[in-house]
Amino acid sequence: MTLPNASFLDDDSSLFESLFEFIANDIIEKGYSIRPYALPENLTNLLLNHITELPESNFKRAGIGRAKDHIINDFIRTDEISWITGNSEAGSAWISWTAALQAYLNRRLFLGLFSFESHFARYTKGDFYKKHKDAFKGEGNRVLSVVVYLNQHWSADDAGELVIYDKNLPASAVIDNKKVTVIPSFGTIVVFLSEEFVHEVLPAKRDRYSIAGWFRLNNSIANNIDPPS
Ligand code: OGA
Ligand code: MN
Repeated sequence: MTLPNASFLDDDSSLFESLFEFIANDIIEKGYSIRPYALPENLTNLLLNHITELPESNFKRAGIGRAKDHIINDFIRTDEISWITGNSEAGSAWISWTAALQAYLNRRLFLGLFSFESHFARYTKGDFYKKHKDAFKGEGNRVLSVVVYLNQHWSADDAGELVIYDKNLPASAVIDNKKVTVIPSFGTIVVFLSEEFVHEVLPAKRDRYSIAGWFRLNNSIANNIDPPS
């Protein structure tokens, strides 16, 4: 597989084939995959350096809803985002890596993933994103969500966990109330079916950086122009 503009990743390509296979198997089994510290370290570093150097004016308050009814709602989410383009070395390496994941999952799971959009998100201390789904059934837009974290030395005390609600988990003493809690540590990857899982970001005690992205079907086939924001 060729990864344009990401030659430094080439040495690792067989490594991330096995990562992609773990992700594919998790999706088949549970509908989501949580892979701690799995993003190639050089890519994670590149992304972290890039996000910390982005000019302040690149970050915008995140809204909810799409294009025409996009509104900012402090009750639902308070983070700031910056859409990722291929115009930087980091952005282009990230897009190459997600394209390789997309190709692998299409071959393996026949998901028909067609396009990808993603943004950096900065949650400053206390920011949150309340329970939501990334897509709604029948709208046929976002199929698969991917989130990666860029936070070095994150400890459990820093909070800011991602909580995924999984109706299929058995209630037990170990699994608390059918939820899975993810610590947003450097290089951790989370992938899940966008229509299936309600999730939320708990307030953090320090600044928290993530990338959230979505693989989509080709909606324009239905002559339905559907921009990313
Ligand atoms: C999102 C989202 C999760 C996270 O942006 O839709 O759910 O942990 N992000 O940053
Ligand atoms: Mn989400």
